[in-house]
Amino acid sequence: VMIPLSRITILTQFEVNTWLNNHETDCLILIVDSDVWSLYEDDFMLTNMGKTCLVWRALPGEDSKSLSHYTECCDFLLSNGIHRNAHVVGIGGGATTDFAGFVASTLLRGLSWTAIPTSLLGMVDAAIGGKTALNSISGKNLIGTIHVPTQILINPSYLSSLSRTEYLSGMGEVVKYCFLSRSIFDAVHAREPLESIIELCARHKETVVERDLHDRGGRRFLNLGHTFGHAFERCFGLSHGIAVTLGLQLIINEFAANSELVGRYAEVAKALGLEHTDALYTAYMSKMSADDEAKSRFFQFVSKDKKRTSNTAIDIVRIECIGEPFVESVALSELLHHVSQRIELYRV
Ligand SMILES: NC(=O)c1ccc[n+]([C@@H]2O[C@H](COP(=O)([O-])OP(=O)(O)OC[C@H]3O[C@@H](n4cnc5c(N)ncnc54)[C@H](O)[C@@H]3O)[C@@H](O)[C@H]2O)c1
Repeated sequence: VMIPLSRITILTQFEVNTWLNNHETDCLILIVDSDVWSLYEDDFMLTNMGKTCLVWRALPGEDSKSLSHYTECCDFLLSNGIHRNAHVVGIGGGATTDFAGFVASTLLRGLSWTAIPTSLLGMVDAAIGGKTALNSISGKNLIGTIHVPTQILINPSYLSSLSRTEYLSGMGEVVKYCFLSRSIFDAVHAREPLESIIELCARHKETVVERDLHDRGGRRFLNLGHTFGHAFERCFGLSHGIAVTLGLQLIINEFAANSELVGRYAEVAKALGLEHTDALYTAYMSKMSADDEAKSRFFQFVSKDKKRTSNTAIDIVRIECIGEPFVESVALSELLHHVSQRIELYRV
């Protein structure tokens, strides 16, 4: 059964405003990243809409994804007379859309919602697919639902205020898409404008999720680079996207029999302004070859990965041909042994 998912639209701020004005509800609930809101509030024309418009200024970024913040937000909205046909609009990066989606999925047993991603990571990944989440003291994203937004409105002009770190973090996911889809690889290789690349990535994720909402088949391919990526992220305190590029390189450099992929990685990394990740990868691999403590911490993070399927096995996403990822279930001990041997090759 194909589940009809969200509609993705690339649009201008004028069109965003028109869309909000024309929405059929008489009650809009805007859940906004407060830092983003201080930059863009004036661009949203919310007066004279002829409808109630409640604005919840969420804590910026990851801080919004807590149970206490969730309770505060729900109490505010419930005490302001919302009803079942109210429509939630999440405006911000991935953290804010995760939070807004969670609020929408639970408030009054579920309200419809729209995502307006403002970070690059949000536009190409986090706002798409309907996974909503809060964090627990036991870990990130452990409390959540699947509640697909009806619309994803992408206005690339928000990216002009994004910090370089956040921009590069989003680019890390774009590099990943280059290996998941031949047409994205070709578009990046041909230096197509960022706006088209964003649209291709968003639609690619959307199509994958449409076929596998509950993560049992093709959706797992979206984790390419992530098992090792998360370990790099946590072990060395790197940004998510940069860590994903290192995880991706580990899969390509140490697992792929097709050695051409190494060159392909260098090409797209260069096209996306991530050429430095090549040297970064070598640096962290040689660091682990010289520092047993770092290596064992890295291995501990790999072992704790959410994609572990039993106590002793783990699913990793591999690649031999661009656009043809596959999942392999491997014994954890075997995986770590292989990586350990490869790390030795980086000893200087
Ligand atoms: N639901 C999913 O499928 C999914 C997928 C991937 C990631 N995620 C989640 O997404 C989050 C990461 O996404 P993110 O990097 O967008 O995080 P984020 O929401 O924390 O945004 C990163 C930072 O950028 C700022 N920001 C956002 N847009 C801006 C703009 N236009 N101008 C200036 N600053 C801006 C935010 O205030 C924040 O400080 C994590 O919480 C992760 O768990 C969810």
